[in-house]
Amino acid sequence: MIVLRSPKPFLRALSGQVQDIPPIWLMRQAGRYLPEYRAVRAEVGGFLDLCYDPDRACEVTLQPIRRFGFDAAILFSDILVLPHALQQKVWFVEGEGPKLEPLRDASDLAILQPDAVLGHLRPVFETVAKLNAALPMETALIGFAGAPWTVATYMIEGGSSRDFAKTKIWTYRDPDSFQRLIDILVDATADYLVAQIDAGADAVQLFDSWAGALDEAGFRRWSLEPAKAIVERVRARHPDVPIIGFPRAAGPLYMDYAAETGVTAVSLDQGLPAEWAARTLPRDVVTQGNLDPMALLAGGTALDRAVDHILQAFDGRPHIFNLGHGIIKETPPDYVERLVARIRRATS
Ligand code: CP3
Repeated sequence: MIVLRSPKPFLRALSGQVQDIPPIWLMRQAGRYLPEYRAVRAEVGGFLDLCYDPDRACEVTLQPIRRFGFDAAILFSDILVLPHALQQKVWFVEGEGPKLEPLRDASDLAILQPDAVLGHLRPVFETVAKLNAALPMETALIGFAGAPWTVATYMIEGGSSRDFAKTKIWTYRDPDSFQRLIDILVDATADYLVAQIDAGADAVQLFDSWAGALDEAGFRRWSLEPAKAIVERVRARHPDVPIIGFPRAAGPLYMDYAAETGVTAVSLDQGLPAEWAARTLPRDVVTQGNLDPMALLAGGTALDRAVDHILQAFDGRPHIFNLGHGIIKETPPDYVERLVARIRRATS
């Protein structure tokens, strides 16, 4: 691993450097817990309109950087712009979340238009370029995409789901056509991430939020292998750009994911024991995350204890401070400020 001398602590951590004060950012750091986000959100119609509005998307990406001085900004967009770019119908209903016209069987794969993807996503690349110019020199810019498995669950269930029944039954009954969907998503996701890097992203993160719903064989085939294929393709074009994988709730299979996909770093959910992760994960794979988002929402001394536990567990390893999943919208912004201060030791 080559240890970078970058002005960006986030990139130094990803190059393997252990820092006295770990860099910090939070998943979903731009969003409804911030009043200034809600104000911009109210100016546009649908949520997707905000994702495709480079000026406003840039503004809401910068809001948490101005307020908290995080070490990284994450492009404001959503994992579901990819199925939308593939020409599936996608919309968001206030208070209900995402809706998609679901893929019902293999014949529906014909709806998907891989050639349309990069053209459709041009406004997102414009946002990346604006952010690259606007961010302070010490702040890294993270691009992202949903992992094929997680995106496929939305495409098949038609939205959020509790048990992913339709998707899982499809994988068991007709793995060949499910593989065709995954292959389409691997190609589109790799192209999408490469284009974000071309536009100015310093690093990328692959969100496999529902990896934990798979059994071991399913995890290997639908989460680990697609991640490995995406890493290979992105590396072929951008060998030095760090890639963070987030196979959420994968438990001990984090080991295989970290060892076999080629990712630079793994983002850890809060269910993974910190000491186990610090002891067991390959030394050359950087770690990120692990703080329970509900501990941040709760605040107080329990939050301080949870933070100190993570700092202690990953002491001596390159670690990026983050949550185990996205910030919850009821989280008081003051608690985020207190968290950043504690990490940077501005308070006792
Ligand atoms: O600050 C950031 O992290 C950048 C932006 C970002 C959003 N979504 C904005 C968003 C990122 C990285 C995502 C990723 C995302 N989107 C994931 C993976 C991470 C995770 O949380 O597991 C998933 C599964 C989605 C799909 C999605 N988008 C759902 C299920 C929902 C509805 C639930 C909710 O929180 O409302 C969204 C909507 C969404 N994406 C919002 C934001 C700020 C809220 C909608 C709004 O403001 O109107």
